[in-house]
Amino acid sequence: MRLRKKHFAIPEMQENPYVYFNGEQNKGRWSEIFGNDNPIYLEIGAGKGKFTIESAKRNKNINYIMVDLETNALIYATRKILKEELTNVRAMPINAENILEYFDENEIDRIYINFCNPWPKLRHKKRRLTYPRFLEKYKIILKEKSQIYFKTDDLELFEESLDYFRDTGFSELITDFDMEEDEYPQNIVTEYERKFRNSNVPIKFGVFEFYN
Ligand SMILES: C[S@@+](CC[C@H](N)C(=O)[O-])C[C@H]1O[C@@H](n2cnc3c(N)ncnc32)[C@H](O)[C@@H]1O
Repeated sequence: MRLRKKHFAIPEMQENPYVYFNGEQNKGRWSEIFGNDNPIYLEIGAGKGKFTIESAKRNKNINYIMVDLETNALIYATRKILKEELTNVRAMPINAENILEYFDENEIDRIYINFCNPWPKLRHKKRRLTYPRFLEKYKIILKEKSQIYFKTDDLELFEESLDYFRDTGFSELITDFDMEEDEYPQNIVTEYERKFRNSNVPIKFGVFEFYN
């Protein structure tokens, strides 16, 4: 996602009580931050945040954390937390490479990865958010028998990610190469998903579970 530099983004987010620039201080304390023991779902690469915001509106008994390294996109996501008065959402402008600095072992109940960058060139594949070195980190922060929900438009990324999940010990609960928009009751169409659906690109969807 390439957006023109938004100079207001960081100062505005610094004023937002639901956004953490020093989120490593919350490691192991996220339930305390939310003030309840509800499950915590994490969206990685949330972009402008439609997925988490809509999910949080529907599921007030779930806590959501959205992260993205791009403040130019996350600013719009974090505005919506305030506008919608969603006390069950928090956000962090972070790189998923450093996810272990922000979450303790077994702290997360579910991870969502929606339309992450496909990085098709061989030398860039290790940047994919589903690449094994990322999955190994997600395994640490996920609770036992928790799941990763993954959607993409990109066939090669999806097929290679199936291998990544298998190779790192996840089992496939759902593998769908052409997911209908209304096929799964809790599906929220993300910003990128809308563009691809409008161009009739089949959406690939997988749910993967890890047993500690
Ligand atoms: C193609 S966009 C998809 C946005 C949104 N999930 C959607 O479906 O509309 C991918 C997002 O992942 C973010 N991203 C890429 N690499 C990341 C990383 N290592 N850590 C955190 N976010 C990352 C990008 O900044 C971008 O906002």
